[in-house]
Amino acid sequence: MSDIKKIKDEFFLKLKEDLNLNQINEIKNDLFGKNGLVSSQFKKLGSVAEEERKKFASELNTVKDELQNKLVKKIQEIESKEINQKLEKEKLDITLPERPFFKGKIHPVSQAIDEISSIFSEIGFSVEEGPDIENEYNNFTALNTPDNHPARDMHDTFYLDNKKELLLRTHTSPVQIRTMLKEKPPFKIIAPGRTYRSDSDQTHAPMFHQVEGLHIDKNINMGHLKGCLDYFIKEFFEIDKIKMRFRPSHFPFTEPSAEVDIGYEIKDGKIVIGEGDKWLEILGCGMVHPNVLKNVKIDTKKYQGYAFGIGIDRLAMLKYGINDLRAFFDCDYRWLNHFGFDPLDVPTNYRGLSR
Ligand code: PHE
Repeated sequence: MSDIKKIKDEFFLKLKEDLNLNQINEIKNDLFGKNGLVSSQFKKLGSVAEEERKKFASELNTVKDELQNKLVKKIQEIESKEINQKLEKEKLDITLPERPFFKGKIHPVSQAIDEISSIFSEIGFSVEEGPDIENEYNNFTALNTPDNHPARDMHDTFYLDNKKELLLRTHTSPVQIRTMLKEKPPFKIIAPGRTYRSDSDQTHAPMFHQVEGLHIDKNINMGHLKGCLDYFIKEFFEIDKIKMRFRPSHFPFTEPSAEVDIGYEIKDGKIVIGEGDKWLEILGCGMVHPNVLKNVKIDTKKYQGYAFGIGIDRLAMLKYGINDLRAFFDCDYRWLNHFGFDPLDVPTNYRGLSR
């Protein structure tokens, strides 16, 4: 019997045994590995006499195919046997009670941030983010805040070290600095996020949220600022008319500076935004101070612009009718269930932008 035939018979017999996948791999290697039996036969081809060679080659190829097919079949057999064994062992008890299903709610602050971001994105603002832990330079110095400014006081700011170099940012304005240092003008960004001040009562929490706005370009003026805020407030509160008042104010990083109030009245115990003779402060703003632009190496002869900082929590309280700011951060599920938003309910003024 030729060697080839012997190999075939021997391995056909072997493959009849009860084998596992490891053993199959060993057999594969014995036959077709670098020095495998079949591989060695192929190497012999050159030394076979010419008149024999054709027959030898065709016999070898046939046996090779047969062995390979057999191996594939055997592997399939083993795999389906394993699956069947598993199916027999594992049972699904469909009489068991189902697991409770809790549907999460979106926190009103997250909802407000999503709505604010989508409204501003509609008029060309992109969203930037910065860290909650800031350095003194980005939070104060670069923003033209003098050393003796009361905001720098320990009573107001949470410092993280004795040298007063690291702190929890007191506003989102340092994101202006980070953005302007990172890229070249023009800038048209908003920066929503957490801010921290040492303050706590019904309308103040030590951690709260702001959204910063910054628009720097050639020929940007106060008119653009007013137009932008007017648009935003109407969109956010979903009203056609808004009473808005710019009150002269002071921020070290803007000149001129203003605080903005919106008109409201109480009707049947509810706040109605946009009408009435009462005023509510919702944001600070102004034209970016030239010193700030110089600190980030922007040519003040070419570029100027406005900035604003809006209190997000207060906007959310007004829009969704929530009257205690502290409840926002109590992590009470009952509260969240009541005031939270269904993740699948798309708000009317939502434009598909996600943070
Ligand atoms: N950073 C200011 C604050 O926290 C708000 C503000 C931002 C004012 C930008 C002017 C320009 O009160």
